[in-house]
Amino acid sequence: ERGLHEHFMMKEIHEQPDAVGRVIRGRLDERFHTVHLGGLNMDAREAREIKRVKILGCGSAYYAGQMGAQFIEEVARIPADAEPASEFRYRNPVVERDTLYVAVSQSGETLDTLVAVQELKRKGGRVIGLVNAVGSSIAREVDGGVYLHAGPEVSVASTKALTNMAVGFAMLGIHLGRIRDVSPADGRRLIEGLKKLPADIAAIVAQEEELAKIAGRLAKHESLFFVGRTRGYPVAREGAQKLKEISYRHAEAYQTSELKHGPLALISPDVPSVAIVPDDELLDRNIGALHEIGARSGPLYVVTHPGVEVPDGVAAKIVVPKNEPELDPILLTIPLQIIAYYAAVALGHDVDKPRNLAKSVTVE
Ligand code: BG6
Repeated sequence: ERGLHEHFMMKEIHEQPDAVGRVIRGRLDERFHTVHLGGLNMDAREAREIKRVKILGCGSAYYAGQMGAQFIEEVARIPADAEPASEFRYRNPVVERDTLYVAVSQSGETLDTLVAVQELKRKGGRVIGLVNAVGSSIAREVDGGVYLHAGPEVSVASTKALTNMAVGFAMLGIHLGRIRDVSPADGRRLIEGLKKLPADIAAIVAQEEELAKIAGRLAKHESLFFVGRTRGYPVAREGAQKLKEISYRHAEAYQTSELKHGPLALISPDVPSVAIVPDDELLDRNIGALHEIGARSGPLYVVTHPGVEVPDGVAAKIVVPKNEPELDPILLTIPLQIIAYYAAVALGHDVDKPRNLAKSVTVE
């Protein structure tokens, strides 16, 4: 039921504080400053043998996987990357015995992801699932996994499931990290950060009215850039994806660091940039990029943290609560969901059922 909300998507955006509360519930260990994931079916000795993590998913699940790969590599110091399952399944991949493969899916029924899992198992790979739908095909195929407990997601554009995927990867990263070299103090720091997420998300959702106005302005443009670097890059990709899916505007995500190697040529007063600028070790560089965009008269919509000084003349500054740096991507994504929603509403589109898209693609 949609309840008070006009669309499932907005209902699901509002459900995110509770959804995150559910995925972490009962899994945080305040004594050993780690995370328990009973469904992994992998003991500590096996977990120590993992030399690489490879994450597979499609669409928003793939972007959540990119966030997850960065978290796992940064925190647990295990090389990790994400690849669209739809590509992996067709390219005769090398399957390694000491790689942990992770399939990520809201529905657990996406055919590309399911076939990737089956191919991995056929070749003897160890594959776990981060899945929302209990008892789904992917959940049944994998060797173990983490259920995401986001609750049913109806809107085609994923919101709460993506958020819980990113939280699920953070928990997996802390779990693997604490078996290795992450200190108890760092474990505690990250667990405290996870516990703050529901309140932080609620504080962003409370900015809905202001974000709706910003979305109305952005929706006037035919083409937009979303830029971010390192932890902000999957955020930019997901932001661009959401806007494309439901507003049908052209949106392109770029690494901020790559702007000068090409896309700066397209910056103009007609092409706004939504820039992800977290208050982290790359802040100065990101501010420098804002000046470069501004110097070419590109309108700037900056998603940032409290206390960050953005250049004069930006079109909008959107401030999200600061959490631990490794967890920032989860929060930076939330305003982009709300912007995509209101851009689609402003343009009169069917938000919950965008043209040409299905909630889960279960056919070839
Ligand atoms: C796409 C949907 O086809 O499948 C996306 O349109 C979704 O919204 C993607 O992110 C992956 O779906 P799932 O169920 O595997 O997470």
